[in-house]
Amino acid sequence: MQNNNKKKVLLEINNNKFDLPIISGSTGPEVIDIRTLYKISNLFTFDPGFTSTASCESSITFIDGDKGKLLYRGFDIAELAIKSNFLEVCYLLLYGNLPKKDQLFDFTQRVTRHTMLHEQMIYFFRGFRRDAHPMAIICGVQGAMSSFYHDSLDINDPWQREVASIRMIAKLPTIVAYAYKYSTGQPFVYPNNSLDYAENFLHMCFSVPAEKYKSNPVLNKAMDRIFILHADHEQNASTSTVRLAGSSGANPFACIAAGIACLWGPAHGGANEACLDMLKEIGSIDRIPEFISRAKDKNDPFRLMGFGHRVYKNFDPRAKVMKESADEVLNLLGINNNKTLQVAKELEKIALEDDYFIEKKLYPNVDFYSGIILEAMGFPTSMFTPIFALARTVGWISHWIEMHSDPEKKIGRPRQLYTGSLEKKFINIKDR
Ligand code: ACO
Repeated sequence: MQNNNKKKVLLEINNNKFDLPIISGSTGPEVIDIRTLYKISNLFTFDPGFTSTASCESSITFIDGDKGKLLYRGFDIAELAIKSNFLEVCYLLLYGNLPKKDQLFDFTQRVTRHTMLHEQMIYFFRGFRRDAHPMAIICGVQGAMSSFYHDSLDINDPWQREVASIRMIAKLPTIVAYAYKYSTGQPFVYPNNSLDYAENFLHMCFSVPAEKYKSNPVLNKAMDRIFILHADHEQNASTSTVRLAGSSGANPFACIAAGIACLWGPAHGGANEACLDMLKEIGSIDRIPEFISRAKDKNDPFRLMGFGHRVYKNFDPRAKVMKESADEVLNLLGINNNKTLQVAKELEKIALEDDYFIEKKLYPNVDFYSGIILEAMGFPTSMFTPIFALARTVGWISHWIEMHSDPEKKIGRPRQLYTGSLEKKFINIKDR
């Protein structure tokens, strides 16, 4: 890391003075470089939840939370969602630039040729209960990939890293679709490589041998957009988990399984499922005030799902695009007087005018509208987070590759503020 910044922070502890360098990125807040702090002062910093800590250097994604901006490799997410497609965005995230025509063709071919799973993996699915949550299945099957693709496990070989990456981007839709099929009792539908990425995913989810899925360009585009909008989001909890798992040298398939596990939580990727459940629980517009006051009550753990974000203190830019997609899909399907959507729209309106939400800068996030679109397409709520995981895989992989390409990479090993007992003498059980 090169530091051309001359600024420093002066730290004074018991009359001892230490200079700590300040480092600038290309934009965003500057950082105080505390890497030598422990050595020079015998002190740690304390920052549970990493609210003020930059855990790494990265050139993949930038978020300006106050302005509500999100850039993938410098490109505005709103523009990508309209003008690009998911595989082009995958290329951009992985390689840093928009592909030329032949590069995109070649990349698409490579991904498409890896869509099938090893046939033996089908038996792995069959080991799960039919009522298992698809995230449990996906997490398990993703981890199991390490035992199927031995020729792409060497993290020190850039070629093997790339092969593993292409495999995961290609196979996640198949794994997610199979987890869905397994829960419905329908047969698995093999990928169809003549279809594009999003359309193929819908085909694997909704085709049955007796009846082919009739694709619709509006739904294909909406699916593709959901993938683009969820593809990356800098150092969020699951991406940081992938980096931490990867920092020990764990294989790529296992690292992405760790990311999937972290994404499952309702404070992260699980929020889209929780949000739709909440909208249904509210049920009608007249019950909204009751839920708003519960969300404001300090003694009630209830939170408005789909509202608030650690970084965005303005409208989540992904939510804006998602809202447009929701309107398009519901119009197409003729369900724009859907009760859940009516509750969602009214809830958004009321919350945006409410002092509590204004003061705390709580705006709708990406999960607020994605669930409505997915439900309209025919997905059960349990499939929302798996679809998020499918889309986020490319982001996790891009960060994992970036970490391994960094010559200064170190195993992630936070320290702690110990508040437990001091040394105690062991007492034999009969004397306790
Ligand atoms: N409803 C009501 N109050 C809220 C909400 C909410 N959804 N979110 C935050 N608050 C309040 C908190 O109670 C807290 O109030 P206080 O200052 O009086 O104690 C204040 O706003 C700050 O909240 P924190 O939890 O400290 O903020 P943090 O940045 O840690 O949390 C989070 C962000 C987890 C997303 C939170 O807003 C939340 O739980 N939202 C609902 C779940 C959700 O939608 N998650 C999806 C995030 S997007 C994604 O992962 C793709």
